[in-house]
Amino acid sequence: MLGQQRIFSGIRPSGDLHIGNYLGAIKQWVKLQDDHEVVFGIMDEHAITTPHEPAALRENTLETAMLYLAAGLDPEKVILMVQSQVSAHTELAWILGTITPLGELERMTQFKEKSHTLGAKEGTMAGLLNYPILMAADILLYQADAVPVGEDQVQHVEFTRSIAERFNNRYGKTFTVPKAMLERESARIMSLDDPSKKMSKSGESERGYILLTDSPDAIREKIKAAVTDSGKEIKYDPKSKPAISNLLVIFSEFSGKPIAELEDTYAGKSYVEFKNDVTRAVIAGLAPLQQKFKELEKDNDSVLRILRDGSERAAAMAQKTLADVKEKIGFLT
Ligand code: AMP
Ligand code: TRP
Repeated sequence: MLGQQRIFSGIRPSGDLHIGNYLGAIKQWVKLQDDHEVVFGIMDEHAITTPHEPAALRENTLETAMLYLAAGLDPEKVILMVQSQVSAHTELAWILGTITPLGELERMTQFKEKSHTLGAKEGTMAGLLNYPILMAADILLYQADAVPVGEDQVQHVEFTRSIAERFNNRYGKTFTVPKAMLERESARIMSLDDPSKKMSKSGESERGYILLTDSPDAIREKIKAAVTDSGKEIKYDPKSKPAISNLLVIFSEFSGKPIAELEDTYAGKSYVEFKNDVTRAVIAGLAPLQQKFKELEKDNDSVLRILRDGSERAAAMAQKTLADVKEKIGFLT
């Protein structure tokens, strides 16, 4: 492990994941585990910063873990942990909160957007404001060098860097200052019913996304109903052919065939024929993952064991940083 870059990343447990999450993020984490030291967290404490149902949270946490395991995260290679099972996260977050100016939190884009959406209906809670502090604690506890995230989380990683620097300046070098590791743009998957928008589960009709757990029939229906562009060529041109380009990216990712090769194969062929083959590639590409997922679903206990074991290993790493922090700020040791 010595000399390898350490990576921390996390996701909120939303239960279902779509092929955008898979192609844009999960596949890359699965690759990273071979030559990086990876700690990967299911962030249930972040999940409760917006209204939630307890039973659904528990189920989603398990299901998210199963999906990542089914997608190829290997608990022998990565530490797969659950945030609420490692108390160091909230402990460090408290401490970091004492060196965080309120104004910086109020300026965060995610906070502004979410507090606006919750607005009068649910009210904005302090936990939502403090979200980035907890995220900084997640990352800094493990002395992560790099944090793979989507575009929308880059601001939170920048925030993490500035807290780390502030702490290091005040108390002496304590934290590694992490860098955001942005996903490749090419794997950005757009909605099937509106290719100008990212594929996403929020505020979308079900036809816009394909879930990793969708049945072959559901996948067939959704691709059949997917919007296409005017004209009939099958070529990659996101400006004039956004819908077909999106299907080409999906096809290419699941089949492993380069887009140029697909363009050649489908020159002169119809949208219908093309869509049938996209469908086949997606169904075949997801089959191994779905098979593994079904096996894990039958064996909840082994998943719980993997998570508990991962959280224990994570806690041992986190404890070292936390002890150093406590000593530096003057707590009795
Ligand atoms: P979210 O659930 O939106 O927070 O996304 C979790 C991860 O999946 C992030 O790293 C996102 O960048 C990635 N992701 C989400 N939607 C897409 C998409 N449509 N295309 C590519 N990556 C995505
Ligand atoms: N905020 C991230 C998201 O919504 C999830 C997250 C929580 C995270 N803690 C993290 C990501 C630490 C990277 C590192 O997607």
